[in-house]
Amino acid sequence: MAFEVKVDEDKCIGCGACTAEYEENFELIETDNGYKAKPKKEKFDSDETFEKNKAAADVCPVDAISVNKL
Ligand code: F3S
Repeated sequence: MAFEVKVDEDKCIGCGACTAEYEENFELIETDNGYKAKPKKEKFDSDETFEKNKAAADVCPVDAISVNKL
């Protein structure tokens, strides 16, 4: 199963919970609007890391992360 990970930069407040939960795929990038999370990889061809990405989405306090099957 393929899936896609996205971070809504307008919602992200840069709290870093996602990077703490799953640093293998989330990093904080400094932007003009402060720190924003960015997925290191957005599109996956297998569901191997689906649950880990989903867990990172679940800990975001502002629901900025979406993990959707393609
Ligand atoms: Fe941003 Fe949510 Fe991660 S606020 S830093 S996407 S936990």
